Amino acid sequence: MSETVSLNIGDKQVKLPVITGTENEKAIDISKIRAETGYITLDPGFKNTGATTSAITYLDGEEGILRYRGYPIEELAEKSSFLEVAYLLIYGELPTKSEFIDFQNKVSRHTLIHEDMKKFFEGFPTKSHPMGQLSALVGALSAFYPESLNPDATEEEDNLTIIKLLAKFPTIVSWIYKKSLGHPVIYPKNSLDYVGNYLNMTFGQLTEDVEIDPIVSSAMNKLLILHADHEQNCSTSTVRIVGSSNANLFTSISAGISALWGPLHGGANQAVIEMLEKIKEDGGDSEKWLAKAKDKNDPFRLMGFGHRVYKNFDPRAKIIKKACDDILNNLGVKDPVLDIAKKLEETALNDSYFVDRKLYPNVDFYSGIIYRALGFPTDMFTVLFALGRLPGWIAQWKEMRTNKEPIGRPRQIYTGEGKRHFVALKDR
Ligand code: ACO
Repeated sequence: MSETVSLNIGDKQVKLPVITGTENEKAIDISKIRAETGYITLDPGFKNTGATTSAITYLDGEEGILRYRGYPIEELAEKSSFLEVAYLLIYGELPTKSEFIDFQNKVSRHTLIHEDMKKFFEGFPTKSHPMGQLSALVGALSAFYPESLNPDATEEEDNLTIIKLLAKFPTIVSWIYKKSLGHPVIYPKNSLDYVGNYLNMTFGQLTEDVEIDPIVSSAMNKLLILHADHEQNCSTSTVRIVGSSNANLFTSISAGISALWGPLHGGANQAVIEMLEKIKEDGGDSEKWLAKAKDKNDPFRLMGFGHRVYKNFDPRAKIIKKACDDILNNLGVKDPVLDIAKKLEETALNDSYFVDRKLYPNVDFYSGIIYRALGFPTDMFTVLFALGRLPGWIAQWKEMRTNKEPIGRPRQIYTGEGKRHFVALKDR
């Protein structure tokens, strides 16, 4: 017999079904609770609320487990490529060799963006934040591909929209970077693989051929894979909820980009480097900054520390910390900020404030140091996170659409004024 739990409300008892996941995670299905009792549940920040069932990513915050479609993140980061992981997330299985070649060819064929989109780049102020530009440009793709607006599109039509977005995203991202430098843009080169093409458009020059160091492309692949999905986080939930109104893929992802921008989410990678720089300029005293983070009268938080779900360690941070050492050694880069990061981590992990609250370095703690070593400016870091997260967002949007999930519409408990009558301005 399937498991249920009982809920007593006054003299009424309701039986609520229990949903069990693949890894034996349990949820109480409250979808009928309002109809049966008139009550709703209240869960600010959705800390205990499952918004959906999903077959994409499994995450166990206590054990530090992260798997895409069943494959451990450690194996994917070590052995796979970003585009292969994108295929896995979006279509559910690793591609065969011929499926992968076909996918790669399709993506390569759509890398150009409409020439009229260049006018957007001209319109943005040179110093505008790349995330604001990215969100606007990705939303604008829907204006150039109106067929994507059809909520009744066939799977094949949706798939073409998915391919277009995957293909054009690196072009947009690298052109935003080129604009910030005042450099001419580099057009996509379809002979290169996905990440190689992105790096060529970013670091290539019109005036000379630039060889991309294999260490750099391997590091980029790894970083993008580690960011590719993370189940129902703030930006992904945003993508799903916007998409649930039948909004098109481009605009749903544009909303996800905006959600990612905040420093409590993807914007943390920029905030970490800015914080480490500040600590360095202040003399590098990590104890002093840890004291600030612990002081409840000080709004300062140790950026790159803590996670809503991981309460023992972030498996991505483990991989990234090692990758950071390897890359800096391989590229021969000495970054004093890395030493401060290591000292901060070591001190915090032995401090009862952080230990008691289960605050550990998250993926963003070290990713910024790698991006910096690869030559990216700080305000591009969150854009790189978005480039990595794109396949996850797409997979989640596709799953939501395939499952025909209802429009997202949470409820509330109203705590404002009771009914009162309007008083004319002259009498107030
Ligand atoms: N520095 C100092 N104290 C912290 C930190 C931090 N980075 N993070 C949490 N705390 C403290 C809180 O003050 C709170 O203390 P209290 O119990 O004494 O009031 C306790 O730890 C719990 O914190 P919450 O904010 O309730 O934890 P939550 O799970 O809601 O927040 C979050 C998680 C937002 C990531 C938080 O840890 C944080 O702000 N971290 C810094 C920003 C950051 O690195 N974000 C990136 C997240 S990963 C990602 O998006 C890829």
